[in-house]
Amino acid sequence: MNQYNLKEFERSKKKWNNRAKTYDDFYKTFRGAVENYIDWELLKKYLPKNKSAKILDAAGGTGRITLPLARTGYSITLCDLSPKMLNVAKQKMINESVIDNVDILECNVRNLHFVDNSFDFVLCWDGMVDELAIKELIRVSKKGGIVSIYLNNKWVIAINKFYENPYSILTLIDSQLEDQKWKHKVFSPKEARNFFNREGIKVLDIYGVCHWTRVLNIPEEILEAQNWDEKFFNQTTKMVLKLSKEPSIKGMSRHLVLYGKKL
Ligand SMILES: C[S@@+](CC[C@H](N)C(=O)[O-])C[C@H]1O[C@@H](n2cnc3c(N)ncnc32)[C@H](O)[C@@H]1O
Repeated sequence: MNQYNLKEFERSKKKWNNRAKTYDDFYKTFRGAVENYIDWELLKKYLPKNKSAKILDAAGGTGRITLPLARTGYSITLCDLSPKMLNVAKQKMINESVIDNVDILECNVRNLHFVDNSFDFVLCWDGMVDELAIKELIRVSKKGGIVSIYLNNKWVIAINKFYENPYSILTLIDSQLEDQKWKHKVFSPKEARNFFNREGIKVLDIYGVCHWTRVLNIPEEILEAQNWDEKFFNQTTKMVLKLSKEPSIKGMSRHLVLYGKKL
């Protein structure tokens, strides 16, 4: 790692270590529960049928995804840069007696210590990936394996920041974009498709996530609530799922989640 990357890595580790104890609280709110539900609904379709498949949950944090996977009998490797996020995950796995299904280790997604073609299914739900990280995630997935990667949507970043600095935003949109200011790679849905195709991934689909609060105009007190009306929750998730798949709307979402198959 060069000096800049090392500094960035340490800064990120500190940030996530500090958030470890409270990270799961978000998913107890209406907003978090809807997002978790949608993540799972999209993921279910692509999970390997075979329970002995090897799964990597990279940047997997407190095991939000690993835990339910382990409960259903998959074996998962959970890795993350933050030891404190991983400690929370480990405790949850112990509490639910699924720790034997999970290997937990510290890692940097930009430099994974796994040999090529190791995993049948590779997840990285962070949104902070750059080209290096994406190439690593692809490298460690098997041929025929599935990758599921969160990406930052260039259009939403451009729209949100336009008023602050229209000149740099216009440059950002027009460039092929190695984003200096935001440190992480950002993609339009079309750029994401092209990039992954070039890296030997057949893109199966790209969904839009995390855009729905703005679109549906649900009051903040409902979004933050920890109790809710189940009927309204079901209606909301139904709607959000539709929005995540609708091409005219998904391009407006903060994150894109890309599913692809390694050729
Ligand atoms: C928003 S949390 C997501 C956690 C989990 N994937 C989820 O969906 O609940 C982001 C996680 O990415 C991890 N992370 C950030 N940069 C990383 C890197 N370069 N290598 C490994 N993990 C990283 C953080 O420590 C944090 O746990």
